[in-house]
Amino acid sequence: MSTRSSPQPGDQVSNWGYTFTWTEKHPSKQEIEPLRHQYDTLGASALERLHAIRGVAVEESKAKGTPMPSSDLYTLLRDNYANDEVLSRFWEDTHTVPDWVDWEQLARGQKFFYRYLIPNLVGFAVQGFIAENSAVPGVIEVLVRTGGFSTRTLLGRILETFQWLIQITHDLPAIQPGGSGHAATMRVRLLHSSVRQRILHLANNRPSYFNTAKYGIPINTLDSIHSITAFACNPMWLQLPKFGVHPSSSDIEDYIAFFRYVSHVIGSPTEYFVDADTAKKTMESMLVHELRTTETSRVIAFNFLECVGNLPSPFYASMGFIRAASRWVNGREMCEELDVRGAGVFSYVVFMGYCCLVMGMAWLQRLIPGLDEWTIGFTRKHLYEGIVNRRSRSLFDFKYIPQVGKSTGRERFTKDGTEKGDSALLYAPVLSTVANIVDIGAFEMACLTAGLFVATMMVLAILFMGKTAPAVYTAYFAPHSVAGFA
Ligand code: HEM
Repeated sequence: MSTRSSPQPGDQVSNWGYTFTWTEKHPSKQEIEPLRHQYDTLGASALERLHAIRGVAVEESKAKGTPMPSSDLYTLLRDNYANDEVLSRFWEDTHTVPDWVDWEQLARGQKFFYRYLIPNLVGFAVQGFIAENSAVPGVIEVLVRTGGFSTRTLLGRILETFQWLIQITHDLPAIQPGGSGHAATMRVRLLHSSVRQRILHLANNRPSYFNTAKYGIPINTLDSIHSITAFACNPMWLQLPKFGVHPSSSDIEDYIAFFRYVSHVIGSPTEYFVDADTAKKTMESMLVHELRTTETSRVIAFNFLECVGNLPSPFYASMGFIRAASRWVNGREMCEELDVRGAGVFSYVVFMGYCCLVMGMAWLQRLIPGLDEWTIGFTRKHLYEGIVNRRSRSLFDFKYIPQVGKSTGRERFTKDGTEKGDSALLYAPVLSTVANIVDIGAFEMACLTAGLFVATMMVLAILFMGKTAPAVYTAYFAPHSVAGFA
C-alpha cells in the first residue's frame, strides 16, 4: 500500500479512503507539474482585445453622448469578432466542433445529470464542495481572493454554478455552437480570464499578493483539468457509489464524453478525457498529486458548512445531516483535516434513509424506462424554469474583483441578521413543530419517510421473491465500478 506522491506502476495507492493500482498510464507528477504554469492564452488575448475595444467604444459614446456599450463580454465578442483577428481566432476555436464529437452520445450524457439529480446534487455539495474544492491549494488561494467563498456570496455562487450546469445540460442545441449553454461556457471562460488577469496584475505590482512560483498561474491548465475531473469523474467514482447508486458503464462513457466537449469550449485540454478509463486515471492522479489540505482549506470548508447549514425552507438540511453525509462520503481522515466534526446517530439514520431513497429511485428508473424518461423530462423542465428563467439569472460577469489586502476568512452565516434557516415545513404545522424540535429539514423528513418506505418494500420483496432476490439485485444494482473504495 502506498500514499507516496510519486507512485510506481504496480503500487497500490491509498489516498483519502480511495484505493487503486497505479499504472504507467496514470499521468505522473512530472507530466502534470508543468501544466501549473500554463493557461488559456487564447482566452487571455481575447479578453485584452475586448477591453481595448470597449475602452474605445466608451470614449466614443462619452464624446457623442450616445448610450454606453454593453459591459457583457460575450455581447462585445459576438458584435466584434468578425473585425478582429484575435477575436476571430477565439470565436473559431470555441465554435469548431472537434471530429471526435458524437452529438447523440453527448445528448445521452446530458441526461445523466437529471437521471440521478438528487445524488448528483448531494454528491456535488458534500464531496465536490466540502472536500474537492477545499483541498486544492492553488484553487482555494484564488477563491479566497475573489470573495466568492464569503458566506454573504457563497450561496449566490453555488446557484450560478448550478445555473450553468442546467444551461449546458438543457438539450443538445443548448451546448452546440450558438446555444445558450455554449454561450454561458464562453462567458465563464472569459470570466476565468478576467480573474486570472486581475490577480496577475496585482501580483506583478506586489509579488507577495499571490505566490505564482508555488501555486502556478491563477486558474492554470492543471487546475482546470482537475476541475473537469470534479465535474465529470467524481460523481462516477467518488460520490454516487457511496450512496449505493452505480451508474452504468454507458452512462459513464457518455457523461465523460460530454465534459470532454465542455473542456474544449472552456479552453482546457481534452486528451485527459478521451474515454472513461483515461478520465478515471486522470482523476486518480489528481487525488494523489493535488488533493491536500491547508489552513485556507479549513476556512473554505467552514464557510461552506455555515452556508449550506442555513439554507431557507424548504431546502433546509440540518448541520448533522450535512456532517454525516460528509463523513460518509469523504471519510474520517479528510473530515478531521477540514474540521468537519462527526454527527449523532440520528443524523446517520436520516442519511441512510437518503441512501435508500436514491437507491430505490435508481432501481425503479432502471426497471421502468418510462419512469426514467419522465424523471429526466420533469426535472429538466422545472429546473430550467426555476433557475435559468429566473429574473436574476447570471451572465457570469466579473463581480468579486480581487484587491490587495482583501481575502476571505472564517465567517458566520448572517443574512440581514438572520442567523439560522427555518426548518419548518410550510404547510404542515404538526410536522413543522416536530422538525423544529429535532432540527430536521423537509428534505431530511422526505429522506426518512422514503427511506423507511423503500427499506420496507425491499424487505417485502426479499421475503416474497425468496432466492431470486439476490439475482435481481445483481442484475440491477451490481457495482460496475466500486473497486476503488477501501
Ligand atoms: C475548467 C473547469 C471549470 C469549470 C467548468 C468552471 C466553472 C465555473 C462556473 C460555472 C463559474 C460561474 C459561477 C460561479 O461564479 O461559480 C465559475 C466561476 C469561477 N471560477 Fe471556475 N470553473 C472551472 C475551473 C476553475 C478553476 C481551475 C478555478 C481556479 C481557482 C476557477 C475559479 C473560478 C472563480 C474564481 C470564479 C468566480 C469568479 C467570480 O464570480 O468573480 N474555476 N467557474
